[in-house]
Amino acid sequence: MNINDLTVGLIGGTGEEGRGLALRWAMAGAQVVIGSRVAERAKEAADELNQLLGEAKIRYGTNEAAVAGSEFVLLTVPFAYASATLESLHGHWRADAVLIDITVPVSFEQGRVRYVEPAEGSASEHLKTLLPENIPLVAAFKTEPAHLLLDPQAELDCDTLVASDNKAAKARVIEAIKFINGLRPVDAGVLYSARCLERMTILLIGINRRNKIKDGRFRILGLSE
Ligand SMILES: NC(=O)c1ccc[n+]([C@@H]2O[C@H](COP(=O)([O-])OP(=O)(O)OC[C@H]3O[C@@H](n4cnc5c(N)ncnc54)[C@H](OP(=O)(O)O)[C@@H]3O)[C@@H](O)[C@H]2O)c1
Repeated sequence: MNINDLTVGLIGGTGEEGRGLALRWAMAGAQVVIGSRVAERAKEAADELNQLLGEAKIRYGTNEAAVAGSEFVLLTVPFAYASATLESLHGHWRADAVLIDITVPVSFEQGRVRYVEPAEGSASEHLKTLLPENIPLVAAFKTEPAHLLLDPQAELDCDTLVASDNKAAKARVIEAIKFINGLRPVDAGVLYSARCLERMTILLIGINRRNKIKDGRFRILGLSE
């Protein structure tokens, strides 16, 4: 894979997590487009990140444009809006696109963090049902803290667990993530694993809170590479 040829679009890439991932993909060498419901917001986010990068590497546009122009499309909106957002983008996909779903269905009620289980068992399994049939969904980046991603000097030094029912799409995503410095992709199996991955994020939020930190993350020990 030539990472410089890879196009990465972010739906709702103006949020903390979307901007953090946009930055890391751009640092890896990919061609990145931040999408938004409002192109002007995407411009502001791209300008801010390009300042950090010291060059105008990251482009911007509407969510529709980000989807239409990208091989990897990251869904970086809150889960509550993910279904409607995906449905609105139905006709815009490239034939070779892969959706990378990072969403975690979470509620913060009375100060408590809770997993809000979708009927299909996980956000990723739910969202898969809304995609055009030819577009594979890969779950990844569910446990990487935005705060860390957004600091270009910070060592990521962690693993991202990657799950999908489509082996070829998962392999492409894993191969590409290897270009992101400090982030090791680990094959987490079929999409059913998203049920665990999303709950791991809830666990992590609690651990972060109890330890008064922002950048807790996961590393699997015992792997050979
Ligand atoms: N924050 C983390 O550390 C973290 C870690 C792992 C996973 N995640 C997941 O990453 C996703 C993004 O998290 P975030 O904290 O970056 O979220 P966020 O800042 O609350 O929202 C991200 C973007 O979603 C878009 N959006 C907001 N309301 C919308 C609506 N009603 N319809 C369509 N789009 C809407 C907005 O983009 P525009 O207004 O520009 O359209 C917004 O900038 C979530 O699913 C979260 O579970 C977050």
